[in-house]
Amino acid sequence: MIAPKTIQEVYDTAKIEDVVQDFMPLKRYGSNMKGLCPFHNEKTSSFVVSPGKNIFKCFGCGKAGNPTTFVMEHEKFSYVEAIKYLATKYNIEIIEKQLTEGERQARQVNDSLFVVNDFAKDYFQEQLFETDRGKSVGLSYFKNRGFREDTIRKFSLGYAPAGVNNFLKYAESKGHKNEMLEKLGLSKNNRDFFRDRVMFTIFNLSGKPIAFGGRILQSDKKAPKYINSPETEIYNKSKSLFGIFQAKSAIGKLDECMLVEGYTDVISLNQAGFENVVASSGTSLTREQLRLIKRFTPNLKILYDGDKAGIKAALRGLDLALATDLNVRICLIPDGEDPDSYLQKVGATAFQEFIDKQAKDFILFKAEILLEETANDPVKKAGVVRDIVSSIAHIPDRIKQSMYLKSCAKMFEMEETDLMGALNKVKEQLEKQNRTKKAASQRNQSAKIADPTGFPSMEPGQHGGEVFDKKPGPSSKPKDEMQEKDIVRILVSGGDQAFDEKQSVAEYIITNIADVISLFESAEYQLVVNDVQKRLKDKKEVSSKYFINHMDQKIAQTAITLIQSQFDMSDGWAERDIHLQTQKMPEFNFTEDSMDALKKFKYKKVNQLILKNQELLKKSQDEDDMKSTMTYLKVDVKYKAIRSQLAADLKIVIAPFMK
Ligand code: UTP
Ligand code: MN
Repeated sequence: MIAPKTIQEVYDTAKIEDVVQDFMPLKRYGSNMKGLCPFHNEKTSSFVVSPGKNIFKCFGCGKAGNPTTFVMEHEKFSYVEAIKYLATKYNIEIIEKQLTEGERQARQVNDSLFVVNDFAKDYFQEQLFETDRGKSVGLSYFKNRGFREDTIRKFSLGYAPAGVNNFLKYAESKGHKNEMLEKLGLSKNNRDFFRDRVMFTIFNLSGKPIAFGGRILQSDKKAPKYINSPETEIYNKSKSLFGIFQAKSAIGKLDECMLVEGYTDVISLNQAGFENVVASSGTSLTREQLRLIKRFTPNLKILYDGDKAGIKAALRGLDLALATDLNVRICLIPDGEDPDSYLQKVGATAFQEFIDKQAKDFILFKAEILLEETANDPVKKAGVVRDIVSSIAHIPDRIKQSMYLKSCAKMFEMEETDLMGALNKVKEQLEKQNRTKKAASQRNQSAKIADPTGFPSMEPGQHGGEVFDKKPGPSSKPKDEMQEKDIVRILVSGGDQAFDEKQSVAEYIITNIADVISLFESAEYQLVVNDVQKRLKDKKEVSSKYFINHMDQKIAQTAITLIQSQFDMSDGWAERDIHLQTQKMPEFNFTEDSMDALKKFKYKKVNQLILKNQELLKKSQDEDDMKSTMTYLKVDVKYKAIRSQLAADLKIVIAPFMK
């Protein structure tokens, strides 16, 4: 959608020290800069910014990246949002790539939906602050509830006037179509949808208004307390959380998210300094909402009203949250209160103390509640034990599992070994289910490969977008990773250096691995090597700057990780700079370094080729195919000669059985 030209310009222009300092102070430190890491809590600065390399790295938590990754992490922006943010910061014109007609129309509708909602939000705010009725009814309502003016503005609260179609008329006079207002649920049957209500604006992650909630002023039994915008193209209720935009940076910093039920709970807590709060707006928690939280923190504290309904809602959310691998704690607010009223009653300090003391681990909480209900009936109790054990089985972390077993054994007055037996049974069942699922999907897979149309199939999640959700799984590392990594490290950190008078380091490496260039076992490294090969063919530079700012985020991240890993060897970058003035570090001695890495890499790969060729050789011998046998034998001799040479250079002794 954004033209590559714009992205390139952003990469060429954005300076890491500028970008970072918009969010936090930095101090000079040698040729680098230092500050308190914004991604984890620390007292001494281990967050280092290198203007020269245009990257940042935290020696405490290990986060590293370029200007784009910094704003993506810090502001939880998507890639596109980050590029747009930086383009705006540096006054770079955002050129959009040609969209298809369908894309263009969808975009236009979405854009105008946001525009209209923004217009409505401003209107409701103006009504609240600028009109007599708004002030006397709306503003005084909020003030009576203890909301300060800065809070009211921070959450874009407003007032919808009482007339039949005040808003509709005004919006139309400003050129907005009723059709659009209806689509957004702002009008219905030519009348305003929200009338004589105080208004709450619901924002998406990047701060755009996507929906509204309107609260009635008097408690009137006939009308519902709140009415809300319907779901639209820009508002998906189960994917949204009220307050997420205002809370996101506090959630990241505190590494915890608090979840409450109501709009007013979020606002009230926020005003008292608890800024990491969101609400699910009266619905039970969905998987998407949990995933949204997980993007910022694995720690979730749920604050629920202490009535039966609150407890039930809490229990329902539990298994989903476990499956999402969140650490869930729950805190019940005393009977008859909700977080807002309780906080206003006891004050911020007592409130904090209360939740610190009351917050209970979710599983133990569930066990406790369910156990109370069994009233010592052994049959009921057995059911509860099974229920809890199957919850525990869903937790991926084994250490956590065994800790839960211990605590639950105590609570149920049972032997831990008995619980363990029950757990293993459940796990066996789960594994069996997984195996069946896997087999089914494998059958599916091979069916896809055999698909005569030959179209590659798209896996779910391949569409991009979920940048933060994806964590590399516990895949086994390829055997040759060390050698591959070395080659790629040299390419990205010194590919443009001179190898000798005739060629650059990159040229030397790429020509020398031409015969095995597609044999990288690591997909990540293969991507870089292919890119280098193409760059060289196009006669373009392959400097570390190019890689750090690569448009392909995967390549950029690989490069940054490899380049910054050199700095892990010494304490800090400044010491390193001093060191460099007197002596060349090995990785700056690119000629020797490349030759050595290359030999090791080729040695590994030649061994692979020999094995593959020997298989072919054996097969041709079995089939009495003389002609092929001769060819494979010749190849074998050639490969082995190469290997002996490499082994001699590397001073490796080849085992006799391999010869
Ligand atoms: P609550 O009834 O707890 O409301 O509903 P509240 O937020 O504490 O509001 P006050 O303090 O009475 O003013 C919790 C949430 O459920 C949704 C709203 O999102 C509300 O914030 N809700 C509730 C509705 O959507 N419609 C309703 O009629 C009631
Ligand atoms: Mn309330």
